[in-house]
Amino acid sequence: TAMTQMAVMPREGVGVEISGVDIGAMTEAEETRVRELFAEHGVVFFRGQNLSEDNHIAFARRFGDININRFFAAHPDYPEIALVQKDVADKENIGGGWHTDHSYDLEPALGSVLVARELPSSGGDTRFASMYAAYESLPDEVKAEVEGLYAIHSAKHIYGKDAYYKQTDATGSGRVGNADAADELQDVRHPVVITHPLSGKKAIYVNPAFTLRIDGYDKAASDQLLETLYLAAIDPAHVTQFSWEPGSVAFWDNRSTWHWALNDYHGQRRVMHRITIEGCPLHA
Ligand code: SIN
Repeated sequence: TAMTQMAVMPREGVGVEISGVDIGAMTEAEETRVRELFAEHGVVFFRGQNLSEDNHIAFARRFGDININRFFAAHPDYPEIALVQKDVADKENIGGGWHTDHSYDLEPALGSVLVARELPSSGGDTRFASMYAAYESLPDEVKAEVEGLYAIHSAKHIYGKDAYYKQTDATGSGRVGNADAADELQDVRHPVVITHPLSGKKAIYVNPAFTLRIDGYDKAASDQLLETLYLAAIDPAHVTQFSWEPGSVAFWDNRSTWHWALNDYHGQRRVMHRITIEGCPLHA
């Protein structure tokens, strides 16, 4: 029988590329190693995979229950799979700004497994940023300031009835919908810096898409602190830009990374399959 040997290559900035494993048929030892690398590095990448939709679902289930996406169009045959799609006539892409998924939930998603299905001839990369490294890079006085602080997060201004995606063709094309569900969500509070539930490391947990403000701060002070944190977050020293190929898979941790899907392939189609995994409450 063919024995594979897992190899791990750190990427510039954040994350590791793992080779020598078929993630559609991992052994328990391989799964354990992937889990450790995921917790430690925040995002793991695979190349040359050949995953069916069932394989994709089975891989995700190894790490937790599946969160059925409320706002993205679903795969017609697999409700567990959300479509992150842009067609030739579409202008807006999905996830086209720095964010982390589901911070507006009380128990934010653990992470997502994204599989490339149809790619533009060039462009359509995804950037990832490390919130572990971002936290580490903060000056001591900022680390002291954020200690014990909480921030308020919401989905309403992004997915709600009068919100961001409503003004784009992502809604008109049926790729993003269900605005009522966003408007019904209560805004939530999470620590500005979390202790990561798997690694025990500290990570910045605010993001420009879904964080409204620092709880208890007036607007000016809140904006100023958020800007300081966001500038630390997007420092190129801990950002990587991943170029997708057929067979590429990314599995990112929403608690310790941000991501940004670049929208630089107008007139071409890009289809990604995303499965999001349930998380847990977050603590300082
Ligand atoms: C997302 O989940 O934000 C989309 C990522 C991508 O399409 O590269």
